[in-house]
Amino acid sequence: MRGDALQKHLPHGADVAGSRRIALVTAEAARSLDEDLSPLADALHHAGVEAHILAWDAAHDWSGFDMLLLRSTWDYAARLAEFVSWAERASRAAPLVNALPMLRWNIDKHYLGALASAGVPVVSTTFLEPGTDVAAVLAGFLDHECAELVIKPAIGAGSRDALRLRRADRAAAVAHAGRLLAAGRSALLQPYLSRVDEEGETALIFFGGEFSHSIRKAALLKSGAGPTTGLFAAETISARDAAPDELAVARRALAAVPFAVPLYARVDLIRDERGQPRLLELELIEPSLFLAHAPGAAARFADCIRRFTPAAAVPL
Ligand SMILES: Nc1ncnc2c1ncn2[C@@H]1O[C@H](COP(=O)(O)OP(=O)(O)O)[C@@H](O)[C@H]1O
Ligand SMILES: [Mg+2]
Repeated sequence: MRGDALQKHLPHGADVAGSRRIALVTAEAARSLDEDLSPLADALHHAGVEAHILAWDAAHDWSGFDMLLLRSTWDYAARLAEFVSWAERASRAAPLVNALPMLRWNIDKHYLGALASAGVPVVSTTFLEPGTDVAAVLAGFLDHECAELVIKPAIGAGSRDALRLRRADRAAAVAHAGRLLAAGRSALLQPYLSRVDEEGETALIFFGGEFSHSIRKAALLKSGAGPTTGLFAAETISARDAAPDELAVARRALAAVPFAVPLYARVDLIRDERGQPRLLELELIEPSLFLAHAPGAAARFADCIRRFTPAAAVPL
């Protein structure tokens, strides 16, 4: 089934008329920060694809493109309604990739619950919904969990509003979760997986369902520090070959995504205290792909884009 889906979307052969004129969709606030844009535009040019770098939050005619490729729309969490309505409009003008149903599913970390139910080893997560008695849930959580914990929004990116707290910081935890919930947001409560401090997290990047490359990202949350105030927390990236158990978990996670094979995906893993890789995030909307960190990655992605046949845009 998934093999069929892949074949359908990635027909092989040199003469495939795939995407020829595409928009690489960024945000005004991210345009100068996205390090993937330049190598990707170059690789696309080399592959004979015309690429235009356009911000979602600027006025454009989105029709006439073979594909609107979501890249660095990194400010969407703070402008959610505006962004989703843009995505709906844009996807009626031209094929949005990854597609709107995937975007809707992936924008909210509740998808981790669905993947956990499908048997994927996910970072242990308690969802806090508006109206939850946070102090009571936290007390129950601390009965059996960890020295430190993380509270972060269900719809969030770039570590914004993510807070690492010691178990003694109960009041701060209740206050932070309370603020998110009072704003109508759902939140995630997780044990802080402290091996990330030494080992970092591993991000595995897939194009058309095929593993392309992986990197190491150093731990981002400092104990006792407030949440980042920038568009995203500064990241320290280095080379890392994914271990076989990480590759296996990443493949299981991708196989459990309830859609056809995404053109691009990034799977972020952290090892738990027993050393088991656990899914922290599966990113199908606007992940950095760290193309400059892996020789050949930009060309692989460009080739996949060229051969990809998106589902037709819904007519206006
Ligand atoms: N449970 C956790 N254990 C350890 N580190 C975490 C945990 N949750 C988040 N982090 C840290 O916070 C960063 C941001 O969290 P993440 O879940 O990736 O959200 P997003 O990137 O969407 O803001 C991660 O890259 C990691 O460094
Ligand atoms: Mg992340």
